[in-house]
Amino acid sequence: MSSDLTTGIHDLSFATGEYVLPHTALAAYNGTDIGKYHTGIGQRSMSVPAADEDIVTMAAAAAAPIVARHGAERIRTVVFATESSVDQAKSAGVYVHSLLQLPSACRVVELKQACYAATAALQLAIGLVRRDPSQQVLVIASDVSKYDLDSPGEATQGAAAVAMLIGADPALVRIEEPSGLFTADVMDFWRPNYRETALVDGQQSIAAYLQAVEGTWKDYAEQGGRPPQEFAAFCYHQPFTKMAYKAHRHLLNYCGQATDEDAVERAVKHTTAYNSVIGNSYTASVYLALAALLDQAGDQTGGQDGGLDGRSVGFLSYGSGSVAEFFAGTVVPGYRRHLRTAAHRAAIDRRTPLTYAEYRELHQRSFPADGGDHPTPAQTTGPFRLAALRGHKRLYDTR
Ligand code: CAA
Repeated sequence: MSSDLTTGIHDLSFATGEYVLPHTALAAYNGTDIGKYHTGIGQRSMSVPAADEDIVTMAAAAAAPIVARHGAERIRTVVFATESSVDQAKSAGVYVHSLLQLPSACRVVELKQACYAATAALQLAIGLVRRDPSQQVLVIASDVSKYDLDSPGEATQGAAAVAMLIGADPALVRIEEPSGLFTADVMDFWRPNYRETALVDGQQSIAAYLQAVEGTWKDYAEQGGRPPQEFAAFCYHQPFTKMAYKAHRHLLNYCGQATDEDAVERAVKHTTAYNSVIGNSYTASVYLALAALLDQAGDQTGGQDGGLDGRSVGFLSYGSGSVAEFFAGTVVPGYRRHLRTAAHRAAIDRRTPLTYAEYRELHQRSFPADGGDHPTPAQTTGPFRLAALRGHKRLYDTR
C-alpha cells in the first residue's frame, strides 16, 4: 500500500420514494401549528414509498446510475446499511446485486446499527480499498423511517437510499484519518424484531445525540483531528434538519467557540436542502446532507469558481442505541464535474403528493405472514418494483 494513497467517495447518487406528504397536510389533520414543523423541527415534507417500493427498490434505483457510469468490473464488495431490514437472514444487498446484474465474484453483506451503519460501511470499504486499491466497494444506505401514526415521531418519517462508490483516487471526497468514536448503551430509539415501527423517547434521543457529539469530538481531538475552524461545513445526521443546528451549536459550545447564529448557519445551512423535503432516511441521512452540500456549493456557497474545492468537511454520524463517529473529508478539486445535481433534484420533484388519508392507508399496509401469494398494486414509476410476496419470498421486477 502506498502511503500517499487517497481513498474516499468516487461517486454518489440517491433515490427516494414515489410519493410525498407535505407537513401542511399532517398539520391540517392533527391540528398542529405549521410553525412547529416548518420552523421548530425544520421539515417541509416527507417521502413515502409506494406499496411496491421498499429499501431494495430504492437502493437499486440509487446505485444503477453509478454502475451505468463506472461499470461493475472493479466492484468486488457491496455493503448494504439499513435499519429497516426486510429479512432476518438474507442481506438486502443480494437482491440489489441481482437487480443490477453485478458480477458473481462479489461479497455482499448487510450492516446494522440504527442510523450509523452507513458510516461503518464506508470505513469498512476504505479498509478494503487500502488493501487492494484496484478494487471498488459499493456502499448503499437505504431506509424507510416509520413511526406509529398519531405519535410525536410521525412528523419525522421519510425514505431514501444513497449509493456511494468507494475507491482509490476518488473524484468527490477524500476521507481522512482519524475518526472520533463513541458508543453508549442507551434506549433512546429501537425497534424489536416483531415491530414495523420504531419506539423512541424523543427528548432522550436528542440528549443522547448531543452526548455523542461531545464524545466523538473529544476522541477526534485526542486522535489529532482538525480544529473546528478548519471546516467549511459540517454534515450531521439529520432526523429532522433542526437537529443539525442543535448539534453544531452544541459542538461549538463544547469547543469553547462563539455560537453566533451566523456561524452555525454558515456551517450547516447548505446540508439541509434534501433532508428538509425527504425527511428522516436513517442511514442515508448524513450522506444526503453531503449530497445537498456538494450540489449547492456551486450555486450558493460563495465559491465563485471552485465551490468547495480542497475544503474540509466534517461528518457526524449518529445511530441511536448508540454509536457515533466524527470524521473529516476533503473535497476533491474539480468535484463539480462529477455531480448528479439534476438527477437528484428530479428524484425529489418527481414525487406525487399524497393526501393525509392516502398516506395513512399506505402506512397501515403490511404483508400477511401466511405464505400466500400477495401481489402488490402497481404504483411506482421508478425503475424497480417489489412485485409480490409469494411463499414468504420477495419478488422484484425491473420495469
Ligand atoms: N412555531 C415554531 N416552533 C415551534 C412551535 C411553533 N408553533 N411549536 C413548537 N415549536 C418548536 C419547539 O420549541 C421545539 O423546538 P426546540 O427543540 O428548539 O425547543 C420544536 O418545535 C419541537 O417541539 P417539541 O419538542 O415540543 O416536539 P415533540 O414533542 O413533538 O417532539 C421530536 C419532537 C422529539 C423530534 C419528535 O418528533 C420525535 O420523537 N421524533 C423521533 C425521534 C428523533 O428524531 N430523535 C432525534 C435524535 S435521535 C436520532 O437522530 C436517530 C434517529 O434518526 C431516530
